[in-house]
Amino acid sequence: MSARTRDLPRRSCLSVPGSSERFLQKGPSVPADMTFLDLEDSVAPLEKEAARAKVVDAIKNLDWGDRTLCVRVNAWDTEWTVFDIIEVVGNAGERLDEIMLPKVQSAAEVVAMDMLLTQVEKKAGLPQGHIGIEAQIETARGLINVEEICAASSRLETIIFGPADFAASMEMPVLTGGVQIPDYPGDHFHYVFNKILMAGRANGLQVIDGPYLYVRDPEGFRDYCKRTRTLGYDGKWALHPDQVTILNEVFSPTQEQFDKAHAILEAYEKATTEGGAGERKGAVMFGEEMIDEASRKMANKFVTRGTRAGLQRSAG
Ligand code: GLV
Ligand code: MG
Repeated sequence: MSARTRDLPRRSCLSVPGSSERFLQKGPSVPADMTFLDLEDSVAPLEKEAARAKVVDAIKNLDWGDRTLCVRVNAWDTEWTVFDIIEVVGNAGERLDEIMLPKVQSAAEVVAMDMLLTQVEKKAGLPQGHIGIEAQIETARGLINVEEICAASSRLETIIFGPADFAASMEMPVLTGGVQIPDYPGDHFHYVFNKILMAGRANGLQVIDGPYLYVRDPEGFRDYCKRTRTLGYDGKWALHPDQVTILNEVFSPTQEQFDKAHAILEAYEKATTEGGAGERKGAVMFGEEMIDEASRKMANKFVTRGTRAGLQRSAG
């Protein structure tokens, strides 16, 4: 796993079609935490091979700042995966942080990608283990195997839900993936969101929600983002620059939450360490609520996320 990107934020993960020179040129100007240059489903089959060189050129010659930079390769059931890796990882240099593997169905697919990356890194003179892996869960089999998939390689950085392919794999009677279905009383993806989140967290991975396809509906998007944000996801995909702005806001703690989290950590530290033998307390009142070790863990998450998002504690 790339040490550089392990702790970086992934509130907004921007998809850029690798066959479009126009979109590749525009990519660096969009302030996404993570950007992936796509060789998979946003690229027409007849453009796949030519897109590899365009992607390499964009990685080497454009200034992507300090964002996490990723390439999504084609899935193992195509004729492209190995050649995507050889051409892109073999030529892109160290600025490429990670590879996204779509439609992952089993741990073996991640292990195979890890071994292929090891060989290509060696041949290209890259540091061993430099390239991280982001794995997409977007088939019924992938969801069944998500726990073993999340534990399959030390290169794994994130696990991602792909709602469009997942809806297709489950043969759901919908024509748009990743949006609310008014006929369903509740959230039809609630189980899926939680299953992926638990598997990811149990293995120390960041957990990311996939695309929302109504790209001209910012308010619907904002509303939909709150589902996975509330469950604990780290971020979500953006298909358009306007979605990036909303994601960076929705997936950051507010200043008030950030300040409160700092105050909880301070109060807890004081309660657990100050005083003589028998006076130190594990649980203490903080305003109207009782805080303890679990509160410290919750507060720590807000502080980590807020710090990653560039927040600073308010004075006083
Ligand atoms: C993303 O790849 C999706 O299928 O939703
Ligand atoms: Mg997909």
